[in-house]
Amino acid sequence: MRGAVSMTERDRSAALEWFRRNRARSRALFAMVAPAAYLERPIALRHPILFYEGHLPAFNANTLLRRGLGCPPIDPELDVLFERGIDPLDERAATQSTRAAWPTRVRIQEYAQAADDAVAAAIASADLDRSDSPVLRGGLALYSILEHEAIHHETLLYMLHQLPYAQKRPPAAHAVAAASRIIADVDAAPPARTTIRIPAGTATLGADSARIRFGWDNEFPAQRMAVPEFEIDVHDVTNGDYLAFVEAEGYALPEYWDAEAWTWRARYGVQHPAFWARRDGEWRWRGMLAERRLPLAAPVYVSHAEASAYARWKKRRLPTEAEYHRAAYGTPSGEERAYPWGDEPPDASRGLFDLHAFDPIPIGSFPAGASAWGVHDLVGNGWEWTSTIFSGFPGFTPSPAYPGYSADFFDDLHYVMKGASPATATALLRRSWRNWFQPRYPYPYVGFRLAHD
Ligand code: AVJ
Ligand code: FE
Repeated sequence: MRGAVSMTERDRSAALEWFRRNRARSRALFAMVAPAAYLERPIALRHPILFYEGHLPAFNANTLLRRGLGCPPIDPELDVLFERGIDPLDERAATQSTRAAWPTRVRIQEYAQAADDAVAAAIASADLDRSDSPVLRGGLALYSILEHEAIHHETLLYMLHQLPYAQKRPPAAHAVAAASRIIADVDAAPPARTTIRIPAGTATLGADSARIRFGWDNEFPAQRMAVPEFEIDVHDVTNGDYLAFVEAEGYALPEYWDAEAWTWRARYGVQHPAFWARRDGEWRWRGMLAERRLPLAAPVYVSHAEASAYARWKKRRLPTEAEYHRAAYGTPSGEERAYPWGDEPPDASRGLFDLHAFDPIPIGSFPAGASAWGVHDLVGNGWEWTSTIFSGFPGFTPSPAYPGYSADFFDDLHYVMKGASPATATALLRRSWRNWFQPRYPYPYVGFRLAHD
């Protein structure tokens, strides 16, 4: 399936370096949690925080050492306990995966140390690109563990976002890139809002496995799709835009919500985005490290259900995954780019990602990141919902290194998100990367923009 690109000694040392940076960032993120909060479950639908401290080293060891190289377990009990996270539909289903007791933190950290040492030794000297092994071929297991940990940094951050401030500590300045160095100007006025018509054309979704070093199974095979002419907003919907919907009683009017969303809203008393709070008659932004006045010009973060309700209120719709691709990577000449801005690698002038800040900043802050059509903020400053249900492209084959990574979610209950958030690692900005969540899950760093036929 993969493996046209073979690993060199330089790839090996770059991988070791990436592994160490990943582990250091994980430690910095866990250090943001006050020790007393280690067993908290900031999101009731997820495992407690401690699970993730065990999950990352367990996944690395299970995938690379056991599945890939056939090594013995690090710890037969913890390897299994920390093998997989959960994705329950509701809180009742979540309680079924609650455990009465977890291992102590000391035991988890000793386990992590043993796994890290063994994984680092394998990256330094084992044969990790064997053409006779589907799990190792092309470095599949190696890049799977490196990207998995980078993905979890974001998963962990949006979970820590929900932890009360009293239980959170700001990270050491050196530890988490330049986190929090960028402070949004809450009073900034949003740029003028326009819509662009994109002519009918072709978009390539996914990637050709012979042409990229690594991709997850859901990115293959490449998929060329005809995209009819459509209209799309130059900017994301902002908190200010969304406030008009809240103030128009949008959450109380059933005509904007589908049946499941309407029930969800009533059951959990949802009246505004999960990242907002209302105090003394003022709307507040629940930032990662502090609460402040709602930044009206920043993109709103909402669930797919809330984004869809807003779109109905505006008599418009969410873009499809193919429309997102055409707006982001297409050009008037018909060529397709690697990134919205062209083929140059990402840097801080192109968008807000890789933890240059924890919280989103005003729309339109990165003119150097605009696409060929002049559409802004497509990569960074918040993921973007699409109307496309997550599934495999025709010809999908599950990854031999992690067969359930995508296939377990081909259940018509998840929607594709594209782009990136402030917490997305640079390595995950490749065009074919696809993210997904359930439609009534309001915690990830994801917003939307509107489209029209
Ligand atoms: C791709 C972000 C939806 O967090 O559920 C992590 C990634 N899969 N460990 C998730 C994932 C297994 C996944 N998302
Ligand atoms: Fe995981």
